[in-house]
Amino acid sequence: MNNFSAIFEPIVINRTTVKNRIVMPPMGSNYATLNGEIVEDHIQYYEQRAKGGTGLIILENVCVDFPYGTNGTTQLRLDNDQYIPGLYNFTERLHKHGTTVAVQINHAGASAFAGRLNGLQPISSSNIPSKTGGNIPRPATIDEIHHIVKQYGLAAKRAQRAGFDAVEIHAGHSYLLSQFLSPLFNKRTDEFGGTPENRARLTRMVIDEIRAQVGPFFPIFLRFSAVDFIEGGSTLEDTLEILEFLDEGVDVFDVSAAQNDTIQYQIDEMNLPDGWRAYMAKAVRDKFKKITIASGNFRDPAVVTKALEDGSADLVVLGRGLIAEPYWVEKVQNNEVDMLRNCISCNIGCADHRIARAKPIRCTINPDVISYEDYKRYQVSVPLNVVVVGGGSAGLEAACTAAEVGCNVTLFEEKSFLGGLSTMIARFPYKKRIADLPKFLINRANKLKNLEIKLNTRATPEIIESIQPDLVVSATGSKPLLPPIKGLHEQMSQTDRKVFSVFDVMNNFEQFTDIPNKKVVVIGGGAVGLDVVEYFSENRAKSVSIVEMKPAMAEDLDHIGRIAMMSMLKRNKVDVHLTTTLLEVGADYFLVADKEGNEFKLDFDYGFVCLGMQAENQFNAAFAEHAKTHNYLFEKIGDAKQVRKLIDGMREGRDVIATIQQIERMKANEIRGIDINKPL
Ligand SMILES: Cc1cc2nc3c(=O)[nH]c(=O)nc-3n(C[C@H](O)[C@H](O)[C@H](O)COP(=O)(O)O)c2cc1C
Ligand code: SF4
Repeated sequence: MNNFSAIFEPIVINRTTVKNRIVMPPMGSNYATLNGEIVEDHIQYYEQRAKGGTGLIILENVCVDFPYGTNGTTQLRLDNDQYIPGLYNFTERLHKHGTTVAVQINHAGASAFAGRLNGLQPISSSNIPSKTGGNIPRPATIDEIHHIVKQYGLAAKRAQRAGFDAVEIHAGHSYLLSQFLSPLFNKRTDEFGGTPENRARLTRMVIDEIRAQVGPFFPIFLRFSAVDFIEGGSTLEDTLEILEFLDEGVDVFDVSAAQNDTIQYQIDEMNLPDGWRAYMAKAVRDKFKKITIASGNFRDPAVVTKALEDGSADLVVLGRGLIAEPYWVEKVQNNEVDMLRNCISCNIGCADHRIARAKPIRCTINPDVISYEDYKRYQVSVPLNVVVVGGGSAGLEAACTAAEVGCNVTLFEEKSFLGGLSTMIARFPYKKRIADLPKFLINRANKLKNLEIKLNTRATPEIIESIQPDLVVSATGSKPLLPPIKGLHEQMSQTDRKVFSVFDVMNNFEQFTDIPNKKVVVIGGGAVGLDVVEYFSENRAKSVSIVEMKPAMAEDLDHIGRIAMMSMLKRNKVDVHLTTTLLEVGADYFLVADKEGNEFKLDFDYGFVCLGMQAENQFNAAFAEHAKTHNYLFEKIGDAKQVRKLIDGMREGRDVIATIQQIERMKANEIRGIDINKPL
């Protein structure tokens, strides 16, 4: 038994026992087929989390009424018996591992996916879009409301037949039921609008219909947004009041938060602490004495344990936490907390893929969300020496992967620390979660006896010769891009300067003193520039301005990061200049021009030039040449190959396996005397 024993207490819901307190909540994946069927990869993805010990898995939101109720680029369906066989297969596979399996059923309302509506107008409580700039819905007719209620009941019954242990009604997150519950979206004047009881009526009818279909012993969960975080939207008090009409017949309250325009409080942004929303679950639990689920950036087992022990919740959601670390439960139970791949809430591979990019979900921390660590089953059959140059996240992932499949690996890092940019970015207070990535990679590396790490050592072709490598992987990362703008290089080379790059900030925050009396100007409205703006504006600089050449900010950020940064700019009254170009850099001013060509100066105490990054390739040409004459393969990964995001470097770090397998085939053929260049 360890300090986290509360996590491993079973709990009985109605007549169903869940073996522990960890819930994988519904998370749309874009893995389903176009027609809404489940496929093998999809099952395997969930099965990994079941194998990893998760107590309760709630399958992502499934459509009850096609096409009006559908959302996401691809989505599972339960509006027809034809979907039962595939989902039966799914529940059977998960049950093998002792996991309780539920499914979230949903009607998307105004958030329906326009691509599948084929020109139909989405339906909602009223005619208010579910997000700024979203499609305008039309109010559902009374006949449609009754039809939807029936569809929920039939879908729940099908779920029961498909082997699910419970069903969850989605009444939050800007979907149809929440659009009826919320006074902000529901402007109806009939029996479905106005008073809390009227706004709750549709959800009440859905609960009753489902109960009639599934019988008294089949658990019904209700998920809702406890606080909207929108002016005029539902507060916690409003929710506690409306839940009085929804209490009966529901076994579990699954307490979530926020709506589309405040999604950073629902798929929580990085800087929100672990479990910050537990107070909402506690208020619900205290009032209704019902089994309650809490969610929101839970990662740390100590925080999960506390929420269970202090009565905030009976069950705790690890959503992205389980995308990143499918074996979270097993590792915590086995006291392997140092080996948790903790989600860093970057939202890049999961939420952004699902919501904004029409891609299947992936993960920055976990390069293979479907097969997880199955790659370790492959082990090289001939001795192979691998050198990795650069100990950032891509380099560490490559080095660990190569060592884990049996290569002898040496990693060279010229700095005194590992983790590269991820370690450096995590020095920004609002980005500190990112430190969990290098922390995990270093812990993993330290456990590998066939991986040697040489810090403070710049690798050169001469230095690595004695190792006789079969493969040299360059992961030398990137550095700030400083274009030939008038005055920029001159100002950057001054000893007593006021012009800086992001590296200057990350390497020495202490040099920026007396911030409340400083005027700060940042050139570049991408992710890097916005991190600098966030730091100085949250630290109450006298004034902060940001200049961006394009007509919009934050184009390189994920969907949620962008919404969060836009709200940060507004909250801190940052002076924003769009379609404005940097012309010249002075000692204490930037000369810029707006889109009409009007030139003006922006004076500063601290000026930052954040115009992106460029590959750090200083020594790579020498390696490429050396490889040709010294019988090894050379490849670049991560930013050294092309400046992109952490997720790309991590993926390419894992992909060294493909090169290793290629070398292994070549070597095996050499041993057998086969010339692989000779045509057969
Ligand atoms: C990719 C993705 C898809 C999601 N899809 C759903 C969904 O289908 N239904 C739902 O109720 N919540 C959905 N959510 C919200 C999660 O269930 C969860 O409440 C949220 O991610 C916060 O928990 P976490 O910090 O543990 O990830 C989704 C979140 C992500 C990241
Ligand atoms: S992509 Fe980022 S937010 Fe999503 S699960 Fe992975 S680490 Fe977490």
